[in-house]
Amino acid sequence: MKALILSGGKGTRLRPLTYSGAKQLVPVANRPILFYCIDNIAQIGIKEVGIIISPETGREIKEAVGNGSLWNIKIQYIIQDIPGGLAHAVKVARDFLGDSPFVMYLGDNLIGGGIDRFLHDFERNSPDALILLKEVEDPKNFGVAEVSANGRLIRLIEKPDEPPSNLALVGIYIFSQNIHRAIEMIKPSKRGELEITDAIQKLIDMGFTVESFILDTWWLDTGKKDDLLTANAIVLDEWLKGSINGSVDGASKLLGRISVGKGSVIKSSTIRGPVVIGENTTIEDSFVGPYTSIGNNVRIKNSSAEHSVIMDGSELRDIERMEESLIGRRVTLLRNSRHKALRLMLGDDSVVEV
Ligand code: DAU
Repeated sequence: MKALILSGGKGTRLRPLTYSGAKQLVPVANRPILFYCIDNIAQIGIKEVGIIISPETGREIKEAVGNGSLWNIKIQYIIQDIPGGLAHAVKVARDFLGDSPFVMYLGDNLIGGGIDRFLHDFERNSPDALILLKEVEDPKNFGVAEVSANGRLIRLIEKPDEPPSNLALVGIYIFSQNIHRAIEMIKPSKRGELEITDAIQKLIDMGFTVESFILDTWWLDTGKKDDLLTANAIVLDEWLKGSINGSVDGASKLLGRISVGKGSVIKSSTIRGPVVIGENTTIEDSFVGPYTSIGNNVRIKNSSAEHSVIMDGSELRDIERMEESLIGRRVTLLRNSRHKALRLMLGDDSVVEV
């Protein structure tokens, strides 16, 4: 069994955060989303992992992930020249995959729990595809499954205008080598991509076995701001272990599970967990509330923030109350009390609520 992680694509839905970076590296509880995918793959004992990268963001992904030694796996990077679709990515990876069955994992999908039980089922029943489904409120944005009353999979459609159900395809699949035959037979979709959803439909049409499971843990497709904040909150809630490796002065109060990285300094502040704080960050005369992730080299002074993600190198000064916010890297946010007017320098597609 091999694994193919898809970490290419355009990533336009998290603009402007992903103008400058790969969306799979956006942090959830201070770890790139992609790392949670690799955790789940390494955990089921897969040693050979291919990662699809794009020419634009590939280097950044390689630098963050490395050669796999962090997980004791071997990683091969595979460049996909154009974002031609998920099935196109499988085509590009054909040499790496050979005739091996493989787990395909979209590098921006995050689920609660591991994937071992799905692998065991695949090994026991040897279907040609195993897919995961999850009920969602907005099925139009996903691949959608039509399932019969007794739970049998009838049909799959990518981003339908009129969804036949609210069961979305989760971005984790297990395939036999027959998926390559199906991919050879499909044509680009309306959005000009070779869709893996169409390839799985083709498997069904050709009479191959496609098994489906309804995922019973949470699933987040972290493409959007609110999803990312929710993912951050859930991961902090479920997985954060408190540990203090920085310095906290006597005038500060730390309540609940809090992780403080090396070289970070907390002075005269209250932190209410779950909160993760990276390395070499300073928090002074401030309040940090639950479900907040603060990256490395961040400065927070005389401010209050909660339920937010603040990425590396940013600064907050004299911000009375910030909540449910996603602050990218190297952002400066300060209040100038002498002027009533807003003075802003915002990148393309920024959203500001004042
Ligand atoms: O997240 C689940 C959904 O993922 C499924 O419900 C859909 O059926 C499936 O088509 C996919 O839809 P998205 O439109 O959300 O896929 P997106 O373009 O965001 O790409 C998913 C990941 O794959 C992302 O990490 C980028 C990567 N990718 C994407 C394309 C189009 C590639 O590596 N190469 C590509 O050509």
